[in-house]
Amino acid sequence: MENISLDIDFVRSQFPSFDDTICKNWHFFENAGGSYVPKKVIEKMNKFLTTCKVQPYAEYEMSRIAGEEMDKAIKLFSQIINAKQNEILIGGSTSINLYVLSNALKAFVKPGDEIIVTNQDHEANISPWIRLKEIGANIKEWKINLDNAELEIEDLKKLITDNTKIIAVTHCSNIVGSVNNLKKICNIAHENDIFVIGDGVSYAPHGFPNVKDIDVDFYTFSLYKTYGPHLALLYGKEEILQKLPNQNHTFLEGQYPYTINPGGPNHEELASLVGIYEYFEDLYNHHYKDNKLSILEKIKKVNKLISIHEENLGNRILEYLRNRKDLKLIGKSYIKDKNRAPTFSFTSNKISSKEISQILISKNIATRNDNFYAWRCLEALGINTNDGVVRLSLTHYNSDHDVKKLIEALDLI
Ligand SMILES: Cc1ncc(COP(=O)(O)O)c(C=O)c1O
Repeated sequence: MENISLDIDFVRSQFPSFDDTICKNWHFFENAGGSYVPKKVIEKMNKFLTTCKVQPYAEYEMSRIAGEEMDKAIKLFSQIINAKQNEILIGGSTSINLYVLSNALKAFVKPGDEIIVTNQDHEANISPWIRLKEIGANIKEWKINLDNAELEIEDLKKLITDNTKIIAVTHCSNIVGSVNNLKKICNIAHENDIFVIGDGVSYAPHGFPNVKDIDVDFYTFSLYKTYGPHLALLYGKEEILQKLPNQNHTFLEGQYPYTINPGGPNHEELASLVGIYEYFEDLYNHHYKDNKLSILEKIKKVNKLISIHEENLGNRILEYLRNRKDLKLIGKSYIKDKNRAPTFSFTSNKISSKEISQILISKNIATRNDNFYAWRCLEALGINTNDGVVRLSLTHYNSDHDVKKLIEALDLI
């Protein structure tokens, strides 16, 4: 067994924000909202804007380089998540990607077909499916267990009928933090010829998923939460993408995945995604020697390093919250083997979530209170959706010192 732990000083040295005159005063706990970016991403974007901010794919040098950089981003990201290059597309956000996808999947849904959504999900993976009522789909809700805010697989099984066509479910809740067993859900769905749409937005920042291993039909996550610019990735199985209708220019018929999304992503942002890969490669090379491994194997090892670090920090926060009887934590009260993300939502029985976040912010803890667009989840739990929960979300660049400062600030509540 290797005994290597994440070198947090090295990690933080890769993110210019930690030296920025404003950011360096803050302990950042709003990572589930959006993450900082490593210098490799900034350098890539700068380079693109300086050298090749021209229309790509022509034969002159700058244009050729622009096209190559954009293609490289797609190639590397497909390898990171174990997909084929023509199985991923990059859009402006997960919300946009899921609307575009739901529109395309209308081709597979006829009146009377059933779609299962959950009340644990962010609205981005609910509303686009509810809209399919317009074409006669019946929407069923897989409800959380109110005792623990979890989605129970047994409840899903009860909802599935011969008419079920789609299950839209989050891989990890942005409020509860729980990691749902997406692989098992896909297994059950596929026995019944059902497509699964997995929302990986809250999962991917803590370790990139292996989409083939999960066997999910469509999977999406927001790249601005996985250390990149404001873009989102959508994966779809090739055999399904091939059959979706063309939503792009008519002459592009058959050229999936470009057929799914009208227009393409921002070019410089797309090219800068190579910087995320390079950052993960740097993380790997800093901690490990074996250079013969595939990208996927390297990512797996880095994922593990990240999980252990996040588990250690996260469990300290959870231990604190467990001992505070006035604070009500939502979700599991310990992290083990990636059963939950280090995203902790809570309310107080004494003061509002807004007041708590204001106290924390006064101590330079960057956090917020909100419903975080998972308002069905909050409503089900009987939480005021305006005041919402206080959410503390950390990622692998958070340090022991951040946690110490957070706990000192929480003591003031
Ligand atoms: C779990 C989850 N799904 C979907 C989204 C929507 O992502 P985007 O902002 O890229 O539309 C979010 C955003 O916070 C989220 O947390």
